[in-house]
Amino acid sequence: MCGIIGYLGTREAYPLLIKGLKRLEYRGYDSAGIAVLNGSLSVYKKMGKVAVLEHYASGEKVDGNIGIGHTRWATHGIPSDLNSHPHLSNSGRLAIIHNGIIENYEVLRTELMAEGYVFHSDTDTEVLVNYFESVLLAEPNRAISEVISIALRRVTGSYAIVVLDHQNPDILIAARKGSPIVIGKGAGEFFISSDVNAIVEHTRDIIYPMDGDVIALTKNTIMVRNLEGGQWYVPEIKVVTNAVEELEKGGYASFMLKEINDQPVSIANCLAGRIDINGSRVVLPELDLFFPDINAVKRIIFVACGTSYHASLYAGYLIESMAGIRVQAEYASEFRYRDPVIDGSDLVVAISQSGETADTIAAVELAKQRGAGILSLCNVAGSSIPRLSSATIYLQAGPEIGVASTKAFTTQVTAVLLTTIYLADKKGKLTEERRKELLGGLQAVPELVRQAFALNDQVAAVAKRIKDAPTILFLGRGIGFPVALEGALKLKELSYIHAEGHPAAEMKHGPIALIDAHTPVVFIATQGPLYEKLLSNMQEVKARKGIIIAIVSTGDVRAKELADHCIEIPAVEEALLPIVAAVPLQLLAYHTASLLGHDVDQPRNLAKSVTVE
Ligand code: AGP
Repeated sequence: MCGIIGYLGTREAYPLLIKGLKRLEYRGYDSAGIAVLNGSLSVYKKMGKVAVLEHYASGEKVDGNIGIGHTRWATHGIPSDLNSHPHLSNSGRLAIIHNGIIENYEVLRTELMAEGYVFHSDTDTEVLVNYFESVLLAEPNRAISEVISIALRRVTGSYAIVVLDHQNPDILIAARKGSPIVIGKGAGEFFISSDVNAIVEHTRDIIYPMDGDVIALTKNTIMVRNLEGGQWYVPEIKVVTNAVEELEKGGYASFMLKEINDQPVSIANCLAGRIDINGSRVVLPELDLFFPDINAVKRIIFVACGTSYHASLYAGYLIESMAGIRVQAEYASEFRYRDPVIDGSDLVVAISQSGETADTIAAVELAKQRGAGILSLCNVAGSSIPRLSSATIYLQAGPEIGVASTKAFTTQVTAVLLTTIYLADKKGKLTEERRKELLGGLQAVPELVRQAFALNDQVAAVAKRIKDAPTILFLGRGIGFPVALEGALKLKELSYIHAEGHPAAEMKHGPIALIDAHTPVVFIATQGPLYEKLLSNMQEVKARKGIIIAIVSTGDVRAKELADHCIEIPAVEEALLPIVAAVPLQLLAYHTASLLGHDVDQPRNLAKSVTVE
């Protein structure tokens, strides 16, 4: 999941590319590079973040109105200067940037080496650009756009590429298959990017190429054609409304802290317009069109990854108990390869903040091929997963830049709860009184989340206590179990401390062996049907000298007798627990990582959108 950016127009390309790369850095930050064409091709690329590249190129005269840039998350080849993009063809004529994985690159490299090509990096991308060059030499009379189309027909895997051709200084060629690309049209200029946030400050006129499209750009024209041939055509332009200020930190030290604090607003935005004025019904026109007959749906299968998978688990608990529909939650990466039994009576729901997670896309494509209906819960309009869906419920959370999902999770849970109430109502499972009670509770959640911010200092103190722990357990029961998984994921991805989430009852089946006087155990132990059993689990940890951190309902006294630290959150009914309990868990991960000196927005080895499998 790298970030790609291209510019062609009348302005100096370099500053626009660098700024675009900084906006894309959350997609991958192992290395960065740019190439600008102005008579000659200037290429600067360095391991490390964009700031390192900027320093490296400072003092250089990098002028020109056409260029490409790249932030890398390493797939083939370690992070290094040599493996950084852009990559040049052997003759130096072509420069390429690439997001994706070329699966048949070894076959191509062997052929090219036999033709005398040499390779300086370990990347599949350098093979691709030299393959383009070999086709170019074999077809000298064809336009570069044709040559790239011919070459790509033999390429397998995923790609979002932009190619600069030294001998065609007025054209950029782009292509996508399985990785995202958007095109921004300005006055006498075009931008190419992995996502709209990197270019929306320059233009709101956006083109969304489809998989298999090849795009030929000059500063005044854009033509698109499918890889397999057909006519070149001028694509449709959509106007986006993304707010640019949402792409800034807004005075916060990090995007993550900003997005944690965004949550009262993002949850309110997710609810906006989706509860009727009497507070008694969910209004989801996206589903009205989609669910002609809810009784035709015999099973709902959620497919997702990471945090979105945790929201899917929550959905499973809730929909079965509230709407009486069979539900299973699946890791998309497993689902796509296990030859699942699916038919037209199944509804597959993809949950994805980015809408570009490769495994989730593939799971949806498989389900679609086998006849299932497709619904998605997503935060990015125009991204790949909504385009594969019959209907999409947008989270309306605003851009989430921090790699660790925070407001995405709480708005996913919000959207799941709205959908559940909608389905339960359709199935006649909810009285009006119960609907009003649930929706009233949901509408009160933004304020409860705001109240939870008051826990910040207490949670920061707990972070000091656990920051040197060798491992940390997160335990919960029922709907508290997905919350425990989410807390463990937040902590591990930011602090790099090994953390595991388990159903609390599972502790005795193995994880209890991890517990000693150095082991913090975080319990999601709010009031609920399994509270007594959670207290027993706490006793088991205490008996082994574990350090107990308990997230409890305000006023709880019994857990206080057992826990070393009690974090009290407002008492809410179980269905709302994940939203409110998420806040102290997010803060715990944030403070622990900060104490350890880690970059909370761009934690090591991770990237925001996993667009490769
Ligand atoms: C969670 O903090 C991570 N950002 C990661 O697990 C993420 O949830 C996962 O990659 C799925 O991303 P998606 O929601 O964009 O599909």
